[in-house]
Amino acid sequence: MKKSKIYDVPASIAKEAYINTEKYHTLYKRSIENPDAFWAEQAKEFITWFTPWKSVQSGDFDTLDIRWFSGGKLNACYNCVDRHLKQRKDKIAIIWQGDDPNETLTLTYAELHEKINRFSNVLKNLGVKSGDRVCIYLPMVPEVAIAMLAVARIGAVHSVVFSAFSSDSLKTRILDADCKLLITADEGIRGGKTNPLKKQADKALEKCPNVKQVIVVKRTGGPVPWNKERDVWYHEALQQASSECPAEKLDADSPLFILYTSGSTGKPKGILHATGGYLVYAAITYKYVFNYQEKDIYWCTADIGWVTGHSYLIYGPLLNGATTLMFEGVPHYPTFSRFWEIVDKHQVTIFYTAPTAIRALHKQGDQWVKSTSRKSLKLLGTVGEPINPDAWEWYYRVIGDKRCPIVDTWWQTETGGILITPLPGATPLKPGSAGWPFFGISPDIVDEQGQSVEAGKTGNLIIKKPWPGLMKTIYGDQERFKETYFKTLPGNYLTGDSAERDEDGYFWITGRNDDIIKVSGHRIGSGEIEFILNSHPGIAESAAVAAPDEIKGNSIYAFVTTKSGVQPTQALEKELIQKVRDEIGAHAIIGTIQWAKDLPKTRSGKIMRRLLRKIASDELTDLGDTSTLADPGVVDDLIADKEKM
Ligand code: WTA
Repeated sequence: MKKSKIYDVPASIAKEAYINTEKYHTLYKRSIENPDAFWAEQAKEFITWFTPWKSVQSGDFDTLDIRWFSGGKLNACYNCVDRHLKQRKDKIAIIWQGDDPNETLTLTYAELHEKINRFSNVLKNLGVKSGDRVCIYLPMVPEVAIAMLAVARIGAVHSVVFSAFSSDSLKTRILDADCKLLITADEGIRGGKTNPLKKQADKALEKCPNVKQVIVVKRTGGPVPWNKERDVWYHEALQQASSECPAEKLDADSPLFILYTSGSTGKPKGILHATGGYLVYAAITYKYVFNYQEKDIYWCTADIGWVTGHSYLIYGPLLNGATTLMFEGVPHYPTFSRFWEIVDKHQVTIFYTAPTAIRALHKQGDQWVKSTSRKSLKLLGTVGEPINPDAWEWYYRVIGDKRCPIVDTWWQTETGGILITPLPGATPLKPGSAGWPFFGISPDIVDEQGQSVEAGKTGNLIIKKPWPGLMKTIYGDQERFKETYFKTLPGNYLTGDSAERDEDGYFWITGRNDDIIKVSGHRIGSGEIEFILNSHPGIAESAAVAAPDEIKGNSIYAFVTTKSGVQPTQALEKELIQKVRDEIGAHAIIGTIQWAKDLPKTRSGKIMRRLLRKIASDELTDLGDTSTLADPGVVDDLIADKEKM
């Protein structure tokens, strides 16, 4: 059983918290016992509807045609911007902090509104229609928010691709969603280094004949290749467009965005979120998880290319009329004090980041933190991977000066918003635990047969009932949607994570139990890496697994078998690492390659990854059942080879 110290709710937060422990339990009970009534109230409180819905929810995890707020009509952009104009037109919606510490920009709700309207008209003039897919390949600049919201305003569907992804990854995603238009920038800039986005986009587009137009944001002013028939400068187009564009009235079930994420196989999954349910869920979780108050300055460090950037950098905060800070740079540039200097400069009150960043900064020592004030901070959050109690304590003690509660939020691209989390003011904190389920969420931990396991035992984390934030489907592949999430334990949503629950009902997420590797919080599929390795002419086969890493949480450990006659050299190792980086993106760096004469396989030829994970992690005392191995000697060889490395 996981045990830890318990931190009571800090007094400063208890005073202004929306939810206390008792209220949490009452509301939670109601949300589970009477979900329709609960979600109807939330949908009314958090969203402005053009037409009210007829039914709150229909469908279940068996039929999988799940709909939220059917009959209702709304618009995501209208809810994020227009409806705040009456009360908050001069309130700052977005604070943008550039990579260069001296570069800052702000956009009020009124300014954001005007730019979005103009850009919506640009899109329309270029022929984008409701339902069309628009790919956004932009760095962390305000235009990324403008672009997403403009796409949503006219009823099109955005597919944001992380700007560190390679041209190959971009191409695959554009083709899968059949995007009509691409929005990119000349170059990105992070940590003082430029990233040639337009060049990469051009390369990707060589193979994407359906993209007829490219809109280019001028970020650095660096030289870019230009195709007169196809390319348009963002700033020029914006100037010429009218500043009035009505928001489309869209069905609650209409798609809002596609976001690609790694699955167990090589092909990334286009997670599709529908408008109504997603927005209600992003809005309510944002308010309660971060205990958001009107005067807060909120900063989420996630990149827009990941789901955290969608739900808690843009949609959640803007739906609540908040001020959200967008940071272009990295935590270590120009110095390791960067995060905390930004906190001081903009008087950030709520700060949300990934454990990997905390661990990396912890390692640099306290002096980088102590040189800053951080007095404005009230609440800290983490997301993306388990946080080890050591890092948690440092975050709590040194960053938050023991004054700020930490919300360790567990969720996934597929879940749309946070599902398991402490609520400030309501949940006494246990370092390393994500706490209790959010309202309306019914998690359980079960064995392979779907039976609940007792407290203290590890099992598969599942969710038993639908909630509004859950994805609609995998774009263009309802079968894969069923297969991946609902087939193994019918009637439940399978998260792919392992977890245990303690006697107080706290959830402790232990990590993935499928073939997804979380490196610095980024999702990478074993299958994606293996596909690339295996396509090298000298490679016969390979298996990529997760190995523990002190800073990144996990690193990629690849077992690789060369074709006969091919020497496993250091040069080849370097080449393979580079190949994976080039083909996936800068976040996919293999940590270790171990040459393998053979891989452990069952008699039916399936690679036993479970064993490889143990070897990569040096967990050699209990290898479990190896009786189905075709050749048990293979494992001994791999262990012996590893010891020599
Ligand atoms: C992991 C990120 C432990 C988990 C929002 C999940 C976490 C995957 C936590 C989803 C947390 C996320 N504690 N593990 N607080 N948050 N995870 O789709 O393995 O990029 O399944 O969404 O991240 O990653 P994704």
